Amino acid sequence: MTTTPFSTRRTDPYKPPAQQVQMQNECPVSHVDWQGGGKIWAVTKHADVRAVLADARFSSDRSLPGHPLNQVYVAGNQLKQLIEMDPPEHTEARVRVMREFTVRRIAAMRPRLTEVVNETIDAMMDGKSEAELVTALSLPVPSIAISELLGVPAEDHEFFQRHSSAFAKHNATVEDRMAAVGTLKAYIAELVNTRVATPGDDLLSRQLEAGATPEEVVGLGFLLLIAGHETTANMISLSIVTLLDNPELLQQLRDDPDLLSGAIEELLRYFTIAEIGGLRLATADIEIGGTMIPEGGVVFAAANVANRDPEAFPEPHTIDFKRGARNHVAFGFGPHQCLGQSLARLELEIVLSTVIRRIPTLRLAVPFQEIRFKENGPTYGVYELPVAW
Ligand code: HEM
Repeated sequence: MTTTPFSTRRTDPYKPPAQQVQMQNECPVSHVDWQGGGKIWAVTKHADVRAVLADARFSSDRSLPGHPLNQVYVAGNQLKQLIEMDPPEHTEARVRVMREFTVRRIAAMRPRLTEVVNETIDAMMDGKSEAELVTALSLPVPSIAISELLGVPAEDHEFFQRHSSAFAKHNATVEDRMAAVGTLKAYIAELVNTRVATPGDDLLSRQLEAGATPEEVVGLGFLLLIAGHETTANMISLSIVTLLDNPELLQQLRDDPDLLSGAIEELLRYFTIAEIGGLRLATADIEIGGTMIPEGGVVFAAANVANRDPEAFPEPHTIDFKRGARNHVAFGFGPHQCLGQSLARLELEIVLSTVIRRIPTLRLAVPFQEIRFKENGPTYGVYELPVAW
């Protein structure tokens, strides 16, 4: 068994770290050194990852001393967010927000998002024959989607998009990011103040009406931006690079557009981009996969490799659009399962179908080997995606 520290670094763009695959085969619950120091219990089988994520005794509460993300939490000195809470605090907060993410509400965004995607593609193509797709398409679409969700007035979309992309851009320095965070938080706070004075028909107003404090609503608005922008942008880029690098997969979607929703699930499974979503603190002795994880242990539910578990997904390293991979854990599992998943799916569906239909000659503008992948970041993706048509 390997003795190098457990790491989420990917070396093959299409595969989970080899070390994790080995663990899954040889010792699915391993007590190992963690890349950032200290020790963790790495859980790598699909069924075991779901068991960890479903059990709130594996705590998400980052304010607890010993929680692996406690330092990040303390440094941020912030109001506790949904993603950092345990039940019953979490349940109450989540129920209040869930009504904003019902299938009906998200489906109602389709016409506007379709317009947004078309406008963004118009701007990208305008008199040109090539573009850098991350900047031109992948980042703007989810940013505008979140603007729509929060009720950012149309005249501020450009401002909102500029600063949220400045935060998410690959070459942003720590200073750039901090500046963008400050600007966006101040903007959302101003928007919430406006809604306190003049409620509208939007998420922020409804949260205020449901009893959340203005401070909580600002925190929620910011969480939605952080959780929903770069993640979705990375999935857009990864999906497109995969289709361009594998023309037979692209052809399948051209021949049968009904395959698209299955293709999106499969791509979500295949890339499982949220690298550290599965960090938890054990608040009791709990047995997982036959191994006793002691109270106080740091647990990592390794969703990426779990989504390649042959017991859950036969021939897991093959991309199969007809697999029916709805049981993947790319959006997590259990109480914290991604709140914005219907929105992410909708954005992916609209972007991919529109790109396939409108830009039939789309191709990579550089050899695949030259594309740099975010191999060791908090979210997997590509830094830049030069394309031509
Ligand atoms: C492809 C895109 C996305 C991926 C892969 C993704 C992935 C995830 C994962 C793995 C979690 C669970 C984290 C944990 O267990 O601690 C999560 C939670 C969450 N996501 Fe997403 N996400 C995506 C898009 C979005 C979008 C578009 C939004 C909203 C606009 C969003 C909002 C949230 C929120 C609020 C949570 C916390 C839920 C809670 O703690 O109860 N996500 N996401």
